[in-house]
Amino acid sequence: MTDPVRDRLAAAMDGPVLAGRRARRAARCHSVADLRRAARRRLPPMVFDFVDGGAEDEVTLEANRAAFGALWFRPRILADVSRRSLDVELWERPLPMPVVLAPAGLAGLVWPAGEVAAARVAGRAGVPFVVSTASSCSIEDVRAATDGPLWFQLYLWRDREVTGTLVDRAAAAGYDALCLTVDVPLSGVRLRDVRNGMTIPPRIGLKNALGVLSRPGWVVRSAAAPVVTFANVSGGRPGRTTALGTYVNSQLNPAASWDDLRWLRDRWKGRLLVKGVLDPAAAARLVAEGVDGIVVSNHGGRQLDAAVPAVAALADVVAAVDGRVPVLMDGGVRHGADVVKALALGARACLVGRPYLWGLAAAGPEGVGRVLALLEAEVDRTLALVGVADASALAAAGTEILKKTGRI
Ligand code: FNR
Repeated sequence: MTDPVRDRLAAAMDGPVLAGRRARRAARCHSVADLRRAARRRLPPMVFDFVDGGAEDEVTLEANRAAFGALWFRPRILADVSRRSLDVELWERPLPMPVVLAPAGLAGLVWPAGEVAAARVAGRAGVPFVVSTASSCSIEDVRAATDGPLWFQLYLWRDREVTGTLVDRAAAAGYDALCLTVDVPLSGVRLRDVRNGMTIPPRIGLKNALGVLSRPGWVVRSAAAPVVTFANVSGGRPGRTTALGTYVNSQLNPAASWDDLRWLRDRWKGRLLVKGVLDPAAAARLVAEGVDGIVVSNHGGRQLDAAVPAVAALADVVAAVDGRVPVLMDGGVRHGADVVKALALGARACLVGRPYLWGLAAAGPEGVGRVLALLEAEVDRTLALVGVADASALAAAGTEILKKTGRI
């Protein structure tokens, strides 16, 4: 159904004047931390917390960062770093830099059609974008928006046929890889969301009205955009308001087992990654089951609180996988130096979640572009400063250039 007011608002916001303003705002951010601060100023607290928050006491959320902080560089000297390369190879194809945009549900809360906006920017850079099962734009709409590399992130649904239909849709739309997330047998509890009364679609009540009204830009943009809901699955239809965790739990299959993995391996013929692995023995078993890649992750500290920090789990998983498939990681990557540390521990690439959502919130697509540009420049600079000219040579240089201090 078309709504003339909404269409006029949306068209006005797509124009060059606002895009120029967003680009200038993005350019004033010189780090991911700056973009987070800008996001905080522009999002209603309820939405900022949905992105920023972690499970329970947020111990793992903080530990993901602290574990990067416990790794220090011991640079090579006089190493001729005049010609540097950020390329890494993934499944016989080059990635322009070792960064992937992680799946994030409901990016539409942050920016209208947030997944489409972010996927376009990533696609122009040749950076893979992972579309979440829980995204606010459909599998097909994101595919139609970009020719860039797209992966589809899958949750195992209670109804196997619902899951199978999602897999088939991703295949029909030509997605390059499937990423099965295995750390959500049920939804973790994010206390910030509970306290804020976070629902889908967001409900403005007494508790959060002031916070929403204090962000008029977000209100105008959201009014011009379609209602935010789960675009890939029925039940997330507009008009029904459901507490986030309740909805997710009603759909996920806590009975999922290795049998389901075998079923999926059979149904999806393309590259299959499994995300949410922290245990080396499980990683080795996944490789034996025929997966094509592992993502070491604790879901950005949003699921099991007190789960081991992702970068602390990385080296053991890399050792167990022993080069048979690429190992990627996410959780707490906020700077190119973090990417370099993860690669020195044997990761092929890092996924980033919150950083690009903060970019979207701060300056829309221009903010996502800024995050990618910052990470690229930071990886490049860090390569020079640690004395390893080639990102793909970091794993071999690992123990020479990295020093662990304290607990990680
Ligand atoms: C996520 N993440 C996630 N993961 C997934 O497999 N499916 C999903 O739908 C979502 N949704 C989601 C929403 C939001 C708002 C966030 C912040 C994260 C987890 C995500 O893919 C990734 O593992 C973490 O975000 C990585 O940690 P950082 O980069 O945010 O620290």
